[in-house]
Amino acid sequence: MSDILLALEGVNTFYGPVQAHFDLNLTVGRGQIVSLLGGNASGKSTTMKIILGLVKPASGIVRFDGQPLNGLTTPQIVRRGVGSVPEARRLFGDMSVRENLLMGAFARKDRPAVAQDLDRVLTQFPKLAERLHQRAGTLSGGEQQMVAMARALMGRPKLICMDEPTMGLSPLWVDRVLELIAAINKDGTTVFMVEQNASLALEIAHHAYVLQTGRIVLDGPASELRADPRIRDAYLGGQEAA
Ligand SMILES: Nc1ncnc2c1ncn2[C@@H]1O[C@H](COP(=O)(O)OP(=O)(O)OP(=O)(O)O)[C@@H](O)[C@H]1O
Ligand SMILES: [Mg+2]
Repeated sequence: MSDILLALEGVNTFYGPVQAHFDLNLTVGRGQIVSLLGGNASGKSTTMKIILGLVKPASGIVRFDGQPLNGLTTPQIVRRGVGSVPEARRLFGDMSVRENLLMGAFARKDRPAVAQDLDRVLTQFPKLAERLHQRAGTLSGGEQQMVAMARALMGRPKLICMDEPTMGLSPLWVDRVLELIAAINKDGTTVFMVEQNASLALEIAHHAYVLQTGRIVLDGPASELRADPRIRDAYLGGQEAA
């Protein structure tokens, strides 16, 4: 079994005439948390959409667990073991928490195990057990993020892709969500996450890539990037100076 769970190899992506990725190459190691950093419109969400099959690259390969995902539909990709926590959570607001969680298992045929997994994620996220029958749209932002993460886990993914999981949350919830991501990873799920807040992302990530207008301009172990002056200038200290 290869140590690499996900690889993007030479990916070029276009929206009409606009090129969103230029020869993108990156890998996500099995068992790791890998963070994709970058400013607005740098192509981060598009990277997630490419992996999930929501956007098709013009060229290049997306390899997952040794197999190319190119040409597969999103449900097929989910069935291979890719879970997603999309931007802005995308819950079914009129459905209950329970119904939202069960939607995360839509691709699975092993119904008895799905019931067990519902119990398991409710143990992992005890706050959701109290709110199982509440309409998801009436939850707080942090609670909705928990539902989105728990819903992704209901698919028993090998990899979870998260697009800005801390966006719009209060500092307390930001810490809580990052702790949960670290815990999910400790339990064996590989995590690939987009985050605008570089200092927070680098606290929990093993490795990080920096995207700038569709190109990877920097990557390395999170511990090294935390001390890298280019990261500090662009994303840590630089924001205050700007
Ligand atoms: N559906 C679309 N049609 C046309 N252009 C698009 C579409 N989606 C994204 N783009 C363009 O592709 C580029 C990358 O967008 P993307 O959403 O991937 O960036 P991002 O890094 O996630 O940005 P943000 O930090 O604002 O979320 C942008 O220039 C954007 O305008
Ligand atoms: Mg985005």
